[in-house]
Order: sequence, then structure tokens, then C-alpha cells
Amino acid sequence: MSLNPAKPNRAAWLKGGEAHCNIAPDLPPHPRRLVLLGPPGAGKGTQAELLSERLGACHLSTGDVFRNAKTLDECDRTSALNTALDFMKRGNLVPDEIVLGLVAERSRCLRCKGGFLLDGFPRTVAQAEALNKLLASQDVRLDAVISYELPLEKIVVRLSGRRTCLVCKAVFHVDSRPPMSAGICDHCGGDLYQREDDRQESIRVRMEAYTKDTAPLETFYRRAGLLLSISAEGSPEEIFERSLHALQRRQS
Ligand code: AP5
Repeated sequence: MSLNPAKPNRAAWLKGGEAHCNIAPDLPPHPRRLVLLGPPGAGKGTQAELLSERLGACHLSTGDVFRNAKTLDECDRTSALNTALDFMKRGNLVPDEIVLGLVAERSRCLRCKGGFLLDGFPRTVAQAEALNKLLASQDVRLDAVISYELPLEKIVVRLSGRRTCLVCKAVFHVDSRPPMSAGICDHCGGDLYQREDDRQESIRVRMEAYTKDTAPLETFYRRAGLLLSISAEGSPEEIFERSLHALQRRQS
């Protein structure tokens, strides 16, 4: 099996504090700073991986930060992280103050020379307003917000077949994006597992939270002139091409 050891480990983002990424980002001529929006299971993480490979931008997922915290001993987690994991397990949004504290602690990642792809943050209007202030404090601006659109019945199929790497967080699907060896990550050889918030009951709660708290961000970013709506139907590669075309059209 061919593994890819040169993939950045995103330690600065996943661990926070003094952690540093294993390799410096490539310096693209035009670093992209993007937010990826969309309902649970629309494919934000999958597109973030593809976009990150092509654009060199770092994949900054708040969900990955919480899932990474789960791999720590309970005594090594802050009480805020333990509270966050409790909310997440049920499918509820983690309270804004916890998420904002965690992102503020990692604000140097917003200055990453390779650019960034924010996935799963912001998720409420209060988080989006706080992000604007954080970006201004770091003297950087968003280039665009890509919103992936997908009907509910397809979302359920995607979430129920998802498998995620315990180590590098790469995302697979048992039918549409299977790993080369069952249960093993193609990128780092880590074990694949099924997320506990991909159970039916949690999926329903997550969809409700999306409709109530996150969907209003489409209007927020449309008004800011940043929104690019993309259909998330079709293969990951087709959606990736749509995303690149939309970004190119916006740039020209
Ligand atoms: P988070 O990790 O952000 O999850 P999410 O937004 O619910 O999104 P998902 O990761 O479920 O889906 P995705 O769109 O990335 O899809 P994926 O590419 O994996 O958040 C989890 C939880 O953390 C939240 O519920 C909340 O509790 C908490 N949280 C995180 N951030 C927060 C915040 N800012 N505020 C408050 N709380 C926060 O794809 C899904 C599956 O489909 C995969 O198996 C994939 O292989 C497959 N697939 C992808 N694309 C295709 C395609 N085109 N065709 C067929 N299959 C596909």
C-alpha cells in the first residue's frame, strides 16, 4: 500500500497550544482563505481534502479538533473540551463560547502562509461575527464562502456509510469512496471507525441544528458578497471541479 507521509499533520490546529505542524505549507502564489458551509454529510470534509491538496490551503475543521480531543486521556482534557464532547455526542451544537475560545487559541492558523479552509466553523451568526473580528485582528480577509447543497435523503446515505481515520481524520465511504483495504486508511495506515454522531437519532438532531442555527449564514455571507452556492450531487471529483470553476469565475 502506498502511504503519503508528506501530508501535513495539522498539529497546530488539532492540538493548539505550542504545537507545530510537521511540515511548513507550500507557499501558493495566491493563498486561498475559504469557509466551507453545508449540512452535515454534504461533503465539506471530502471537498476540503481535495481543495487542500490542489490549493495548498490548510484544512481547519472544528469537528476534527473535538474528535482529536477524544483520543486524549480524560484527565488531559480541559473541562470545556469534556463539555464539548458531551454536546457533540448528542448531535447538538457546542456552545459558542467554547468554540470561540478554541478558535481564538488557534488564531495563528488563520495567518497560515498556505491559506486555510475553515470547515464546520462558523456555524452560527454569532460565530460568523466573531470570525470577522478575528480575521481583522490577524489582518487577513476571506476570499469566498462555498455553500454545498444536498437533499436530505442523500445526506442520510452519506452519513450512515462514512468511515473516518482515527489518526489523520481522512474521510471514506463504504460504497462511494472505499479505502483500498477495508478498515485501513489509504493515507497513513490508521484504523477507520464510524463516528458516534452518525447514528440515526444524532443525525436528526444535527439536521435540526443546521436548519435553525447554521442555514442563516447563507444570507449573512450572501449579503457580504462572499457566497458561492454549489450543488453537492454527483461524485466528489465532479463537485471538486464545480468548486474550482466557481472560485476561478469569482477571481476573474
Ligand atoms: P463536524 O465534524 O463539522 O460535522 P458536520 O458539519 O456535521 O459535517 P460532517 O463532518 O458530518 O459532514 P461533511 O459535510 O464534512 O461530509 P463528509 O465529507 O464527511 O461537526 C461535528 C459536531 O461537532 C457538530 O455536530 C457539533 O456538535 C460540533 N461542532 C463542530 N464545529 C462546531 C461549531 N463551529 N459550533 C458548534 N458545534 C460544533 O462526507 C460524508 C460522507 O459522504 C463520507 O463518508 C464521504 O466519503 C461521503 N461523500 C462525500 N462526498 C460524496 C459524494 N460526492 N458522493 C458520495 N459520497 C460522498
